[in-house]
Formats: sequence, C-alpha cells, structure tokens
Amino acid sequence: MQILPTRKIEPLALGAILVRKDKKIGSHPFYKQLSKEDAVLLGRFLAKTSFDKESAHTVFLPSGNRLLLLGVGEKQKFDLRKSILAMRKIVAAAKKDGVKIIEVAAADFTTRGLNDLNAVAETVATQFELANYEHVTYKTAPPDGWNFVETAYVYAERNVGKALERGRIIGVETNAARELSNTPGGEMTPAMLAKAAEAAGKESGVKVAVLDEKEMRKLGMGGVLGVGRGSDEPPRFIVMEYRGAAAKTAPVVLVGKGITFDSGGLNIKPDDHIYEMHMDMSGGAAVIHAIAALARLKVKKNVIGLIPAAENMPSGSSYHPGDVLKTMSGKTIEVMNTDAEGRVVLADGLEYAKKYKPRLVIDVATLTGASMHALGRRASAILATDRKVENRLREAGEKTLDRVWPLPLWEEYEDEVKGTFGDWSNTGKERYGGAITGAVFLWQFIKPWPWVHIDIAPRMTAVEGEHLAKGAAGAPVNLLVHFLERF
Ligand code: BES
Ligand code: ZN
Ligand code: ZN
Repeated sequence: MQILPTRKIEPLALGAILVRKDKKIGSHPFYKQLSKEDAVLLGRFLAKTSFDKESAHTVFLPSGNRLLLLGVGEKQKFDLRKSILAMRKIVAAAKKDGVKIIEVAAADFTTRGLNDLNAVAETVATQFELANYEHVTYKTAPPDGWNFVETAYVYAERNVGKALERGRIIGVETNAARELSNTPGGEMTPAMLAKAAEAAGKESGVKVAVLDEKEMRKLGMGGVLGVGRGSDEPPRFIVMEYRGAAAKTAPVVLVGKGITFDSGGLNIKPDDHIYEMHMDMSGGAAVIHAIAALARLKVKKNVIGLIPAAENMPSGSSYHPGDVLKTMSGKTIEVMNTDAEGRVVLADGLEYAKKYKPRLVIDVATLTGASMHALGRRASAILATDRKVENRLREAGEKTLDRVWPLPLWEEYEDEVKGTFGDWSNTGKERYGGAITGAVFLWQFIKPWPWVHIDIAPRMTAVEGEHLAKGAAGAPVNLLVHFLERF
C-alpha cells in the first residue's frame, strides 16, 4: 500500500479516530476540520454511545464523509500493545468493508514507550502493512478483486514522511518473509528458498551466494547433508552478505533454520503435527528479509545471513535414528530422533558463522514444540550468552510487539545432550525442558562466541485476536531490524 504523510483531511479517505472512555475529541485534527453540520452530528453520536470498552463504529456524516470511531477504553490503560492493535484493527475494519483509502492522525497512537512522532509514524506504517497482508496467491480473486487497502494517509504536525517510508519497508519485508513461509512445501524447496534469497538480495543490493551439495560436501557439512538425504530435493546453503559499515568492522551473523518441509523424517510426525510444517523455514525467511530490510534502510552495519536449507523426509535414503553425522566443526552428532533436525542443520550454520569473526551470532529457528509448551504463543524464546544483549532484544520486542522471553542457558543442562556413540545427542535424555536442551545442543557448535538463540516456534503463526491474517506471522523480522539498527 501507499503510505503518505498529510496535513489536511483527505476527502476520499475513511478517517479513523481513536476515542478514549472520556470521549474528548474536541482537539482532534480531524474533528477540527469538520464542517459545522458534520461536527454536530458527530457530537450527537458521541453523546449517545459508550466508549468504555473497546469497540468500533462507522459514522456517516451529512457531507457524505465517513469516520471510523475506534473505542480504546481508559486512557491510563492505553499502552503500546493496545496502540499497535488499534493500528491493525483500523486496517482490518477497512478491509472488511472494502475501503481502499484510510486516514489516521499519528498523535492518536502515542503512549508511554511510543511518544516521538517519528517513532509513532514508523510503527503505524509497519503495522498497517502487516495488517493489510493476506496469503491469497493460491486463491481465485473475487469478481471485484481483493479487499486490500491501497492508500493510507498519516496526518502529523511534523514531516514524518521519512519515518513512514522506513516503517513501510519493515512491513513489506516482514510480509515477504510471511509469503515465503506460507508457500506450500511442495513448491518451497531448498532450491526455491535459495532463489527467493537471490531475488531479495538483488532487489536490496545484498550479495548472495548459494552452496550446492558438492560444495557443502567439500566443507564437510554432514549435518545439512544428513538431514537432506531422504529428500528428492537437494539441500542448499545460502549466504547473504550485507556490508553497510567499513570492511574491517566485525559483523553480526544471523543463522536461520531453513527446513522447507519437516515431516519428521523416519521418526515421522503424527498427522496433527505435520500440518503447517511447510513453515519450518520461517527462521530462514526471517533472516533473508531482515537483511533485505536493513539494506533498504541503509543501516550502517555489517550483517551476514546464513541459511542451511533442507527438506526432512522419510525414504530409503533418509538418515536413520542411530546414525552418527560428522559436522563441519569435526564434532559428531548422534541422531536419536530424525525429527530434531533443525539443530542438526544449524550446527553447520553456526560453525560457518565463525569464519566471519562475528561480534554476535543470532540463530532464528522454529526449533521446538517445547518452547510453545513453555511460553504459549505470545513470545518467542530467547537464550543468550550475554544478559545485556538479551535485555536489548527484550526491549526491541516490547516496542515492536514482536516479543521474546528468556529461558536459562546454563552449563548444567549439557549432561542432557552428551552422546553415547557420538559427541552430542540431538535430543535430551529427559522429556522435560526441550526448548533449553535444544539451545544447549546448539551452544556446543558456537562456543565461545557471543550468541543468542531465538526459538520462534511459539510465534510461527498469527494468533486469533492479533488482527493479522491466518498463517505465518513473520517473526522476528521487525525485532531483528529494530535490535540491529541500534546494536
Ligand atoms: N519443527 C519442529 C518444531 C516445531 C513444532 C515448530 C511445532 C513449530 C511448531 C522441530 O523440528 C521438531 O520436530 N522438534 C521436536 C524435537 C524433539 C524430537 C526433540 C519437537 O519439538 O517435538
Ligand atoms: Zn522436526
Ligand atoms: Zn523442524
């Protein structure tokens, strides 16, 4: 969608006004610009309608203009989360009614933690884009076309054009990651994911290299090759290099899990768990488009993206439970369960990251169902070697609603993943604490470098009530962009 700054009421747009419980809108810029007749009618409507609770009303004014009044409850309780949800609700309401042009006042969305007009504008633009997205690629369009909002005007006393464009880029890139995740597994193969990375790199000016099986064999990437063995679709290893800072500046390396379909392999998943496993490359998709966003925003940092991409399938050539795989690091992995494949491919990704002498390594993966047992579906799990970095990520998560919550990364958990016939076992000995043992396994392949693991399984898909379309949620593109810009 187009997102444009404005300082006057746009006559063709559906203007949205956030109404608090006290219903005081006399100083709202839209109200102030209404004709006398319109203002009288709006006053009457406000008088007889309660705005104590969250609600939405469309009011038709005598001039023919319409207003969307969004009840947001008590002023004191209007926080950053409610503000972001209100932004999304406006787009959702417009889509529902087939409205193509909307208008909001940036100042409506200010809250504690979001009070600078530029920051508000950036957030509005991102959230408008996120709320406008829907995966319709494989559906026949209705006769009148899809109900996407085409233009959003953002009224502000200051020039917020740049902030709007920044926010829009973050939203568009997040949606691009969602689109990759939503693409069915039959189509989204490792080669296809590599093509998507190349296309994103070309558009944003990021160098992309793709290693094929032969090159991976030369490097000794037994983890990725092992997981990919059962599939007719050969694995790939994607390397993206964005250099926005001086060449000698140490980069941050992002490593994304790129399992294009996770059937579980020979330890095949039961049918209710196999559904949605085409989204098991969501970490990889997030890395691709976080880097594209950073490049388009011209962030002055060096950021590398690595995506080990493979399909985990059962067949006569699959890796077996009990196999011992030799990774690029030289360390071996005893495969106790072929469904714990993410950590196996990431072991090679993390080893490759060390080549860059990184400032920080962040891996992003739909790694465990256990993280969902621990956290539900509102926050990704983070496990970090550095408390300061962990806190910075948590703050970025609060600002973007792309939230993360910490779990412990302690050495005492290492006993859980010590192998019997290999160095490390890809499952814990106990069935408890699976999100932690998954992380502690990965740690063995990145020590002693500073590292954060983000298990995005909890936020792989959108939750009802978030006002986002069903399917992939695009976590943690927004989080990574906000964090890396300031890190
Ligand atoms: N991709 C799954 C984890 C997952 C589950 C992501 C649900 C998103 C939604 C991962 O590869 C997996 O299967 N993990 C196993 C690990 C176990 C075998 C140690 C799990 O969580 O059950
Ligand atoms: Zn799995
Ligand atoms: Zn998986």
